[in-house]
Amino acid sequence: MNDRTVTVFGGTGFLGRRVVRHLRKHGFSVQIASRHPDRGHRLFALDDPQLQSVEANIHDERSVADALAGAYGVVNAVSLYVEHGHQTFHSVHVESAQRVAAQAHRAGVERLAHVSGIGADAASQSLYVRKRGEGELAVQAAFADALLIRPAVMFGPDDAFLTTILKLLRRLPIYPMFGRGLTALQPAFVEDVAEAVARALQGTEKHAITYECGGPRVYSYEEFLRAVAHEAGLKPMLIPIPFAAWHALAWISEMLPSPPVTRNQVELLQVDNVSSPEMPGFGQLGISPHSVEEILQQMLWSR
Ligand SMILES: NC(=O)c1ccc[n+]([C@@H]2O[C@H](COP(=O)([O-])OP(=O)(O)OC[C@H]3O[C@@H](n4cnc5c(N)ncnc54)[C@H](OP(=O)(O)O)[C@@H]3O)[C@@H](O)[C@H]2O)c1
Repeated sequence: MNDRTVTVFGGTGFLGRRVVRHLRKHGFSVQIASRHPDRGHRLFALDDPQLQSVEANIHDERSVADALAGAYGVVNAVSLYVEHGHQTFHSVHVESAQRVAAQAHRAGVERLAHVSGIGADAASQSLYVRKRGEGELAVQAAFADALLIRPAVMFGPDDAFLTTILKLLRRLPIYPMFGRGLTALQPAFVEDVAEAVARALQGTEKHAITYECGGPRVYSYEEFLRAVAHEAGLKPMLIPIPFAAWHALAWISEMLPSPPVTRNQVELLQVDNVSSPEMPGFGQLGISPHSVEEILQQMLWSR
């Protein structure tokens, strides 16, 4: 590894694996850190001497310290969408986020990018959103110059968002909407967000910055569904379903091994998820974000 090594916690995930590729394109060596390093071996051609996949668990001090030893930069792209056992929103998004930041500071790491989400708010009623907000504060307290990356909901060919909507629009003659479909969304292409993380780490400014990464268009949820259906040549009938019903359904669905809908997803769809025009974002990083329609056409053509 050279002196510009970046350790990516969660580097095998939906966003993390793209962050790894974009960092490599920018000339960084990368250490992929996750609990299943074999996944890193399968995802990447590890004949690249500048790429390594190592076992690390962000709940464990020793493991975090080992994974970031000697690194120039660190990215935390670890997620948790459903709580189970000791894996709680607090343990992952607050305690472990703080652990990574504190260890990075102690090890003399120069740049830390912590991936959070638009709307993160330590005063939120939603447990998930509140823990994301508390996590940001804990990271900033431990690593004063931390970069916070707040993506909007992300889409891409292997996502759980757009592909699920598309599949359901194709299968269901009547499509149940979250509430009345009024929540505002600004979906961001996952490759654009990964490039934003790489450019933010490469940037010469060494002070704390929070980037909000939203796509080129703000839709209401209903407009978004209609736009996706239009691109796919579908004419669904959209019917409003109250959020209370979705909460009950999500509660039951979370008992399944791969829940199709979770309570935190429902909570996230109750509040607008749009980047603030006052915050730095794709524009400041010189990125023109791709539209859902453009990527969806590529996805439909490649089938
Ligand atoms: N997806 C979206 O639309 C979206 C929108 C806004 C913000 N975000 C945020 O973006 C970040 C990345 O999300 P994602 O959707 O890409 O997540 P993801 O696909 O679920 O990937 C999570 C990654 O974290 C690793 N991981 C999980 N627990 C770990 C632990 N205890 N120690 C070490 N590694 C661990 C996983 O690998 P192992 O399981 O092998 O450890 C995997 O590499 C998260 O902070 C998420 O909240 C996502």
